[in-house]
Amino acid sequence: MPSLQDTWSTDRVVAALYDTAVQYRATAWAGARVLWGFPFSVIEQELRGVAALPRGTRILDLPTGGGLALNGLAPDHGLDYVAADLSSEMLDRTRARVAERGLPDIRVTEEDAAALTFDDDAFDVVLSLTGLHCFARPAAALAEFRRVLRPGGELRLTTVVRGAGRRHDDAVRLLRGLGVFGLVGTPDDLAAWLDAAGFATVTQTQSGALAIVRATA
Ligand SMILES: C[S@@+](CC[C@H](N)C(=O)[O-])C[C@H]1O[C@@H](n2cnc3c(N)ncnc32)[C@H](O)[C@@H]1O
Repeated sequence: MPSLQDTWSTDRVVAALYDTAVQYRATAWAGARVLWGFPFSVIEQELRGVAALPRGTRILDLPTGGGLALNGLAPDHGLDYVAADLSSEMLDRTRARVAERGLPDIRVTEEDAAALTFDDDAFDVVLSLTGLHCFARPAAALAEFRRVLRPGGELRLTTVVRGAGRRHDDAVRLLRGLGVFGLVGTPDDLAAWLDAAGFATVTQTQSGALAIVRATA
């Protein structure tokens, strides 16, 4: 079985396939509905939320993938934006997207979620869309998200969780077997990881197999 770290950091095909699928509305909607039972409008709403952040907000988008969350931004977005991921293929795609769209003030950088290189309190918002389930060490990543958020800063996160139905759990098992998914928790596991990370307030809702989290540092 391929190691998870290897799959995402070196497998350009997996990265290209995922990013291509998620960037086209029809395939993004079909994948979200068929595999995970949620309407892709959940993610589209997150993208609108990023675009609506006040100017000057320091935001970490991790894992940015191919820069999906940049799709909602206008050229005069005014955010202080760091787009980070483990995968060089994904980061190349994000850089291309930033250039195509002429977006200023986007720093694109390689980071491992479980060992971030940023200072404490460096961000007002951490955005983590549909990626935690791909991480080998999700609890460590959440602790790092908490560390780099300023007190009162916000984590906006979506992730696949186990236990939402047989079809979804079978898909999790398959993707874990392929080395694409990491340690996938249940909703209770996720709540425990967030608590252990030290978030002050947490709300966690669910649509199909997708957990949607808002947590304040
Ligand atoms: C399913 S994609 C989601 C990407 C993006 N948020 C989106 O919705 O299109 C998961 C991403 O997690 C990244 N990833 C996996 N393990 C990581 C880690 N330890 N640190 C940072 N990124 C990681 C992968 O490279 C991949 O881009």
